[in-house]
Amino acid sequence: MTDRYCVFGNPVSHSKSPAIHAAFAEQTSEDIEYSAIAAPLDDFAGAWRSFAADGGRGANVTVPFKEAAFRLCDTLSQRAQRAGAVNTLLLGDDGQTRGDTTDGIGLVRDLERHGVVLAGARILVLGAGGAVRGVLEPLLAAHPASLLVANRTAEKAATLAADFRDLGPIRGGGFDAVAGPFDLVINGTSASLAGDLPPLPDDLFAAGATAYDMMYAAEPTVFLRWAAARGARAVDGLGMLVEQAAESFLLWRGRRPDTGPVLEALRRSL
Ligand code: ATR
Repeated sequence: MTDRYCVFGNPVSHSKSPAIHAAFAEQTSEDIEYSAIAAPLDDFAGAWRSFAADGGRGANVTVPFKEAAFRLCDTLSQRAQRAGAVNTLLLGDDGQTRGDTTDGIGLVRDLERHGVVLAGARILVLGAGGAVRGVLEPLLAAHPASLLVANRTAEKAATLAADFRDLGPIRGGGFDAVAGPFDLVINGTSASLAGDLPPLPDDLFAAGATAYDMMYAAEPTVFLRWAAARGARAVDGLGMLVEQAAESFLLWRGRRPDTGPVLEALRRSL
């Protein structure tokens, strides 16, 4: 029987994951089926259990179920424990559910693909929600000179930074604490969705800096437009989406797909 995988979300009909994984499967000649499933908001665990009972071997998990997925796992990778969230579920032969997260490594791989040097970089991360928590460990593992987490609610950023202080030079605070220059500014707020821009100083970017938005759209986000107008190189989160998918595929199938052509095709389809 063909191994089944899916992405769980709600809503999920616009997810790009089925197209991405279909392309990976074709490229690697892996015989898998990958679909999108809208899980009920009040019973994520039930949706996973029935999928697993029906031949499901693994799943990606997106908004709003990453914390619910974290809670149902029998075992968790160390990085998922740090992130407090799971975006990849794997069903073992023993019937146990293992949880992992590939979001953070997906971001780091995409940054590397764009030639961003993280070692020694002064990094600013905007936002202090689940999306940001998921990427702090691999960013710190790359040995930046400093990492400032700035958030509308300053206290959340301070608490989040404190949780990661054992891993590197991280601080947290409000937007008023932001003073550049930074080599890399990552927008992990959901402000872009509302077309909002956090209040930031004009002299945020060092020469040659990169602005990265974890969101993507057919057009540059308001944050990326603002950053480009101030001299930064602007990169959106479409590559992170493809890279995290590739890491999940590797966990499930033991094969690493080539992300470049898949990303190019996806970009053209936006
Ligand atoms: P996610 O899982 O996507 O990170 P979240 O946990 O709800 O979602 O976090 C959303 C983040 O975007 C938070 O950092 C939030 O700031 P607050 O902690 O102050 O709520 C930030 N955010 C959302 N809308 C924003 C806006 N209009 N301006 C600035 N920050 C915003």
